Amino acid sequence: MAGEAQSWVLMATARAPTNIAVIKYWGKRDEALILPINDSISVTLDPDHLSATTTVAVSPSFKQDRMWLNGKEISLSGGRYQNCLREIRKRAGDVEDEKKGIRIKKEDWEKLHLHIASYNNFPTAAGLASSAAGFACLVFTLAKLMNVKDEHGDISAIARQGSGSACRSMYGGFVKWMMGNDADGSDSIAVQLASHTHWDDLVIIIAVVSSKQKETSSTTGMRESVETSPLLEYRAKTVVPGRVLQMEEAINSRDFASLARLTCADSNQFHAICLDTSPPIFYMNDTSHRIISLVERLNLSEGSLQVAYTFDAGPNAVLIAPNRKVAGLLLQRLLFQFPPPTDSELASYILGDKSILHEAG
Ligand code: DP6
Repeated sequence: MAGEAQSWVLMATARAPTNIAVIKYWGKRDEALILPINDSISVTLDPDHLSATTTVAVSPSFKQDRMWLNGKEISLSGGRYQNCLREIRKRAGDVEDEKKGIRIKKEDWEKLHLHIASYNNFPTAAGLASSAAGFACLVFTLAKLMNVKDEHGDISAIARQGSGSACRSMYGGFVKWMMGNDADGSDSIAVQLASHTHWDDLVIIIAVVSSKQKETSSTTGMRESVETSPLLEYRAKTVVPGRVLQMEEAINSRDFASLARLTCADSNQFHAICLDTSPPIFYMNDTSHRIISLVERLNLSEGSLQVAYTFDAGPNAVLIAPNRKVAGLLLQRLLFQFPPPTDSELASYILGDKSILHEAG
């Protein structure tokens, strides 16, 4: 390795947004490789709002791999981090920085250690898919620093081993995670269905009902559903394949009514499976249910599907409107039913565990 005599540091930084599934991933057929039991489809959010930013540094003076998440050091000993680091190192290429006089050969990466610092600009583990942005960003930044070529969706397959939904954050716009068939997971990759410019008048509103850490992680929840829910297999085998095709068609033709119908139905079925799990898992709360009723009422009063809702493993609502006009109407209704708290109420929300959205009257 040239430049070894003097100490040097080489760094790369990248940002990756989170994604929201409109057809959900729920259930693994292989826990270690993170292979899903069904295809899923998501929309990647604008990185200005919900994203992770990661810097990876490499230096011969580093004694071990270390990582800081939101300023706090975390352990890298978990299998998911180790799998991502191992797979990236395997594919690392030669790297040269002429200005700094640094030359790293691909075999050197096995001996060099990394320091990683990552920040989320939104609450971690509150059902806002922070692990998706986090692992996508980690793997993308490592690949950038280590000159890993993205052949056949390889990088998304590595991010998948950090957190399943992370593979979908490798691309913008609408993305499909194909479950694949191979036992080694090499064909369980993400592909872009349409870029963010294809349907750029869609507006996504996230109503943060609670930013508390969720009680049952997605990983544990889906494991319990696989073990105990009789509905899960029916969903994966009988419902999702057709729904994925219809969703692809809706995206292709920018058919909002179909996108909304499928998104709401899939979210509701996912939460039905959570209820069908033993013991049942309650990710949504009363406020989430009230938001669903509000959207259903709005759609009824307007005579067609104006807004879609979807909920992941937490109570926060993700609402999709076809354009800014409908988004404005929706915000008006939301603010009417959940008026912003007064300053003194806000203090008790921050100190206590009350829902951030509270109901009028
Ligand atoms: C409800 O990707 O967080 O958000 O693969 O175990 O890390 P692991 O799970 P994760 O699960 C996401 C579940 C979901 C639906 C989805 O994003 O498709």
